[in-house]
Amino acid sequence: MNHSLRHELPRVLVARAVFPDIIDPLRGVADVETTPDDDICTPAVLRQRLADKHGAFITGSERIDAALLDACPQLKIISTMTVGVDHIDLAACAERGVTVTHAPDVLTETTADFGFALLLAAARQVGDAERFLRAGQWKKWSVDLFAGADVHGSVLGIVGMGRIGQAIARRAAHGFNMRVLYHNRTPLQAHIEQALGAEYRSLPDLLRQSQHVLLALPYSPAAHHLVGAAELAQMQAGATLVNIARGGVVDEAALAHALHSGQLGAAGLDVFEGEPAVNPVLLSAPRLVLTPHIASSSIPTRRAMAQLAVDNLLAVLQGQPPLTPVTG
Ligand code: DGY
Repeated sequence: MNHSLRHELPRVLVARAVFPDIIDPLRGVADVETTPDDDICTPAVLRQRLADKHGAFITGSERIDAALLDACPQLKIISTMTVGVDHIDLAACAERGVTVTHAPDVLTETTADFGFALLLAAARQVGDAERFLRAGQWKKWSVDLFAGADVHGSVLGIVGMGRIGQAIARRAAHGFNMRVLYHNRTPLQAHIEQALGAEYRSLPDLLRQSQHVLLALPYSPAAHHLVGAAELAQMQAGATLVNIARGGVVDEAALAHALHSGQLGAAGLDVFEGEPAVNPVLLSAPRLVLTPHIASSSIPTRRAMAQLAVDNLLAVLQGQPPLTPVTG
C-alpha cells in the first residue's frame, strides 16, 4: 500500500496477542499495531504506545485512567473484550468524548457454566481430592473421604442478578432442583423472577438463608469487600462461597480465616484482588478451589468476545454507532 495513504488511516493499538484472523479485518480500515509477544504494558509503555492512536483494543489487564487519556488526545474509542469495565475510568472517558465499548452477552452462558463448575468443585472438594490422589496419599476408600456438601436440592444465593447471575439461576433451578435466592441493586421484575424461580432477599437474609453463595456482581467502589468477616460470619456453618465477579468484592484474609476455622465449608475463587498476584493466605487455605480468571475462557467464547471488540472498533472508526457501548 502507498505509504502516504497508510498514514491517513486511523491508528489502532491491539494491546494483547489476539486471534490474528479476528484482528485482520481491522487492517482494512486502520493502521494496526499488534502485540505478538502478549506482554502486558506497564502504564508508561501503554501511554507511549497509545499516544498517537485513535483506537484501542484492550482486555481487563490494561488500566485506562485520566492521566493516560490526557497523554492520548486523539483517542476516539476504547474497545475492551471484557464485559466488566472496572479497569476503565468511564467518567474520564465521557469528559473527553472517548467512546467505551465492551463485550456483554457473548460470554454469559460460558461464564455461568464456569460459575457452576466452581460451585460443584468447591462444595465437593474436587481440588483437594485431586491433589491428595496425585500426591500418592490415597491408601484406602473411607466413608468420609472428602465428604462435602450437596449442591442439588440445596439453597443457592446469587449476589448480582445481571445476565450471568440469571444464567446461573436457570442452571440451578432447572438443572439442579435448587431453591434460588438473589440480591441485586434493583429487584427483578416479577415476571422475570417467576420465570427464573428466584426470590429477592436483602444481603444479610441471603447470607443467612443460603447453603451456597455465588458472587456475580459488577465491581464498583461500593462493592469493595462486600463480603468480609462480618458477612462470612452471617453465612451458614459449612456454607460455600464462590466468586466469579472481581477479587475486590471479597476480603481474602477474612475468607482464608473462615476456611481455616471451619466456619466456611468451602470456597471457589476465579478472581483475586491484585491478580495475577494471589494473596499467599489463600494458597494455604483448605477446601478452596483457585482458578486464574478463566470463567469466560472457552475457545468459542473468547473468539466471540474478541470479534465483538473488533466489530465495535470497525463501527466507530468508520463513523457508525458502536454495537455495544458502555452505558451508565
Ligand atoms: C469479563 O469479561 O469481565 C471477564 O471477567 C473476563 O475478563
